[in-house]
Amino acid sequence: MKQIMSNSKPDLSNLSPETRLITAGRGYTEHGFVNPAVYRGSTILLPDVETLHNQPHAYGRRGTPTSRALDSAIAALEGGHDACVTPSGLSAISTTLLSYLNAGDHLLVTDAVYYPARHLCDTVLKRLGIETTYFDPLADGMLAEMIRPNTKLIYCETPGSQTMEVQDIPAIAEVAVRHGCKLLVDNSWSGGHYFKALQQGADISLQSASKYIGGHSDLLMGTISSTAESWRQLSENYGTLGMCAGPEDISLAIRGLRTLDVRLARHMSNAIALAEWLRGRPEVEKVMHPALASSDGHAIWKRDFTGSSGLFSIELKPCSSAAVAAMIDGLQLFGIGFGWGGFESLCIPFRVKRTASVWKPAGPCLRFHIGLENPDDLIADLGDGFARLRAAT
Ligand SMILES: Cc1ncc(COP(=O)(O)O)c(C=O)c1O
Repeated sequence: MKQIMSNSKPDLSNLSPETRLITAGRGYTEHGFVNPAVYRGSTILLPDVETLHNQPHAYGRRGTPTSRALDSAIAALEGGHDACVTPSGLSAISTTLLSYLNAGDHLLVTDAVYYPARHLCDTVLKRLGIETTYFDPLADGMLAEMIRPNTKLIYCETPGSQTMEVQDIPAIAEVAVRHGCKLLVDNSWSGGHYFKALQQGADISLQSASKYIGGHSDLLMGTISSTAESWRQLSENYGTLGMCAGPEDISLAIRGLRTLDVRLARHMSNAIALAEWLRGRPEVEKVMHPALASSDGHAIWKRDFTGSSGLFSIELKPCSSAAVAAMIDGLQLFGIGFGWGGFESLCIPFRVKRTASVWKPAGPCLRFHIGLENPDDLIADLGDGFARLRAAT
């Protein structure tokens, strides 16, 4: 326990991932409190002029005991050298891209990337003279040919958060190393708990902590963690861009982290139960869930991940959008909303934008986030939904 209470980077590497989640970042508390104080503050008073530029906490934006507790817990979760947090997952993406890319650079991005990240690449980065090429998430063998002398970063999202293709990160990492590029992985789907992107060869792993780390749909936050070699460039730019997150939100993220393992285990078993039930439904053409053998990249998921989370998608057999609306609008236990990772189940229809690969579903597509409810209740609700869909077709 003494080791845990010290903030001098205790060695947690011999602990199992569940235990690490409970013990990481615990050295920033005072007076015996289990959790760190929520330090709200801009100015931090210093004892004298000499310490002005020589103490651990100089100004609220540059870190507080509250934020350092979360940074070090995230670094332990991701297996990174260190970590930092941003006000949203999308700002974690923009901070990372702006940290490593300059005018004239080229960026390779998975075609399955979260749409607002694609928009960022196609607008702000383009305006700054950074060119993006998208690649088929399942054709990593083609990646080496797409590298140019000015390619600086490869950006993956695994699995793709709508279409669920699992990417071969170790193979992509080899290409990145061979060509002197950095590899960035959006690791939000696994919560950083079931996939260790940095150990698998990524240089930077980021997450929308609004998802599983927060876990209760009451938090917006992003996290970025990197290897030692990539850390300096990230942390300097993070500070220069003025990034930080609010202390109340940080406190929520720390709380969420402590229960990540038990929540994810339930998301996993519920989602697999639902996915298997959906696979047997006559209205469903295809289930896209990395833990199912029919899903793209399933063998890679089995090799590289230690579990699956609550987010997956299905392709319906051809039917009208009115029938889909009749199904979804009447669901009692599934909310209709963007985002995912909370305790509650969600269902939304989605369309895909692709520019480097063909993705032509047979019928409408739905994305589910399976929460912590009893799966039998969710199945009964969806069964009623399919009855409405059939009646409206
Ligand atoms: C895969 C993925 N990455 C990043 C984000 C952005 O996160 P945030 O909503 O916290 O900005 C999202 C949001 O849905 C996401 O699905």
